[in-house]
Amino acid sequence: MSGKVSVIGAGFYGSTTAMRLAEYNIFETVVLTDIVEGKPEGLALDINQSRSIEGFETKVIGATTTAEGAGYEATANSDVVVITAGLPRKPGMSRMDLIGVNAGIVRSVAENIAKHSPNAVIIVVSNPLDEMTALAQLATGFPRNRVMGQAGMLDTARFTNFVAEKLDVPVGSVKTLTLGSHGETMVPVPSRCSVGGVPLSDKLSPSEIAELVTRTRNGGAEVVALLKTGSAYYAPSAAAARMAKAVIEDSGAVMPVCAWVDGEYGISGVYLGVEARIGRTGIIKVVESDLSADELAELRVAAKAVRAKQADVQSL
Ligand code: LAC
Repeated sequence: MSGKVSVIGAGFYGSTTAMRLAEYNIFETVVLTDIVEGKPEGLALDINQSRSIEGFETKVIGATTTAEGAGYEATANSDVVVITAGLPRKPGMSRMDLIGVNAGIVRSVAENIAKHSPNAVIIVVSNPLDEMTALAQLATGFPRNRVMGQAGMLDTARFTNFVAEKLDVPVGSVKTLTLGSHGETMVPVPSRCSVGGVPLSDKLSPSEIAELVTRTRNGGAEVVALLKTGSAYYAPSAAAARMAKAVIEDSGAVMPVCAWVDGEYGISGVYLGVEARIGRTGIIKVVESDLSADELAELRVAAKAVRAKQADVQSL
């Protein structure tokens, strides 16, 4: 066990992420913070009390923080920081509806993190994801490889689940991929999808694939509509925790994440969902794959849309 990871925000997403990270039993310390007094301390105590049952030694520390920066000492010198702070969607809202309120929260969190953990790798999950990732990089002033966002792995996992359910096969036999934004311009990549090594297009008709792609694009909204009080957290936290694990273990795993794109796919100057190699320095390399002409065109449309919005966050 080594290293320290801090999870900012002890809502369902943050607390579930902290629990998953603790249960991996690879970090020395998991810090969970929130502005609601006592909540992170209470959740940390609760998770620690599960240690002998689940069999992990990682210690969880809860710390109440303020927007002015009080309490952030508990996160000092984190190796990885997962930013979940911000409001989730309510039914009928798009992720973009959250941009104004969450920009203020994410900016303040990012500034405090930069002050206390100047060498951390940051994983942003707050929505709208691509814009909040760009904002966290601006607010920390960290090198772009050390700031990334979680979305592609979640969207890919949703797509995989829907394909497995549709064909009634194990999820382990299904490979899918989504790129682009975590929103309207999400780009599922059917050409990279297979079932037991057989192309998805041999298993499902174009209209069946299109239906699953649409359900994937609306995967988060479908959960929000059912929950009514907030957004998804089990699948999202699984993805964020795996990214933090890849960083601390310097695994070099290739994952779909929101990363700074600088020339790949003929796209530059934008945080966008792409596949990237993850390690101790954050994004080691954006990994380009062969896309069909249609998929590449869709990715370029996504980049354009996201770039415009990311320019707006500078002033938020
Ligand atoms: C979702 C939110 C967390 O997709 O972005 O569920």
